[in-house]
Amino acid sequence: MLATKKLNQLPYPNSFHFFLGNLLQLRNERIQFFLEQKKALGNIYQIKVPSRKIVVLTNPDWIKYVLVDNNKNYTKSFAYDSIKLFLGNGLLTSEGEFWKRQRRLSQPAFHKEKLSLMFKNMMVQTEKSLKRLEKYADTNLSINLSKELYKLTLDIVNSTLFYNEIDNTTDRIYKVVSKGNEYITKRIDSPIQLPEWLPTPSRMKEKEVLKEMDEIFFSVIERRRKNPTQHEDLLSMLMEAKDEETGEAMTNRQLRDEIITIFVAGHETTQIALGWIFYLLTNNAEVLQRLLHEIDNSLHGEAPTIQNIRSLHYLKQVIDESMRCFPPAWILGRKTIEKDVIDGYEIPAGTNVIMPIYVVHHDEQYWENPSIFNPDRFTFENVKLQHKYAYFPFGGGPRLCIGNNFAIQEMQVVIVMVLQKYRIIVNKDFIPDLNPLVTLHPKNEIFAKVYKRK
Ligand code: HEM
Repeated sequence: MLATKKLNQLPYPNSFHFFLGNLLQLRNERIQFFLEQKKALGNIYQIKVPSRKIVVLTNPDWIKYVLVDNNKNYTKSFAYDSIKLFLGNGLLTSEGEFWKRQRRLSQPAFHKEKLSLMFKNMMVQTEKSLKRLEKYADTNLSINLSKELYKLTLDIVNSTLFYNEIDNTTDRIYKVVSKGNEYITKRIDSPIQLPEWLPTPSRMKEKEVLKEMDEIFFSVIERRRKNPTQHEDLLSMLMEAKDEETGEAMTNRQLRDEIITIFVAGHETTQIALGWIFYLLTNNAEVLQRLLHEIDNSLHGEAPTIQNIRSLHYLKQVIDESMRCFPPAWILGRKTIEKDVIDGYEIPAGTNVIMPIYVVHHDEQYWENPSIFNPDRFTFENVKLQHKYAYFPFGGGPRLCIGNNFAIQEMQVVIVMVLQKYRIIVNKDFIPDLNPLVTLHPKNEIFAKVYKRK
């Protein structure tokens, strides 16, 4: 039997700052840094960061081991502490028995029958978006597609899961979510963890964002408490849920945390995915033609239904391949509870294990010419040949994204309805540089021209 090797025997990047370690490269180069280290060091290595042990994994077998096979030995990584500061102790950040109970309570809102009921609402919101596109159609005006998709995905979550309770606040939410994203990333990148009570300028700014978030979401709870409805939306389900043992309902604070989490996790990721899809379709004329052909030949200009949309296999391939190229959640992190052994290395308790989804999605061992956009990678036959964890845009194991089917259905509805009516051509001057915050934004907003289909 081979002896286990110690963590300090793991390779590490050959250049690092004596105090900051790899923090500056992580902050400035992010994805490029992980791509380069994989080339130089392989599929398991450590990175140097002050006061933290961090191991990076890019081998799908070991990723599966962490997310699925031995998931009980892992909590979420240090990065989620910063996310927790804004989203609180909701489904994304909570742990253990508490998380399990909250997940059980929320899960029914995402069941297949519930998704079917939401289909109509997704269409109604998309219809409104098409109306907003109308004034740009066949003109020289460019639409800010990123903003439009933001409004649309926000409206979809709001109308399907919260019965439009979160009202007229797109701009406010856009501001707090983008600021929150920025501040969380800043905290993750910070070499020293200052005490929370210290009133630094950036802490003061964070507080303002938190206050704004609280105002928006506590008022939602208050409104619903004053006007309880018969809607079977997620909000009602959460408000009516009682603890099995104590019989107690959730506090307003807990409700706020769950609602914010679903709300934030539920719109930004899909907005980003849709933006990248329209960009990729603009630049891959053959794919677009095949997709239009499939939509036109199957739907004959009729409105989508839950049945006919599921039969659009090429559409699903386009969505999957787009999220391979640009995974909206580009990185996952866990932390060992007790020591573990991965690839013969002893990983001590409390070690952060980082899994950059983007790097795995672009690994030549699993993807031929990974920089090429090719939806045929996701035909039924080809998927059977793939390693299940060479593609994991929604994570995996018990912490798999609760909204994965919701997101897929939403993207199917939006793409079909938009393409039935319009050609969306992303402006030529859009440069697809990446801005990897918590989620994988394009560095610049996407602007596009809109043409009516003849
Ligand atoms: C393209 C769209 C989406 C992508 C790429 C995505 C990605 C992910 C990923 C990777 C995770 C796992 C995080 C981890 O393991 O640490 C996750 C978790 C989660 N997602 Fe999504 N997501 C999407 C859409 C949605 C939607 C539409 C909702 C809700 C309406 C949602 C709600 C959540 C929640 C609540 C969690 C935490 C689940 C738990 O730990 O129990 N997501 N998502």
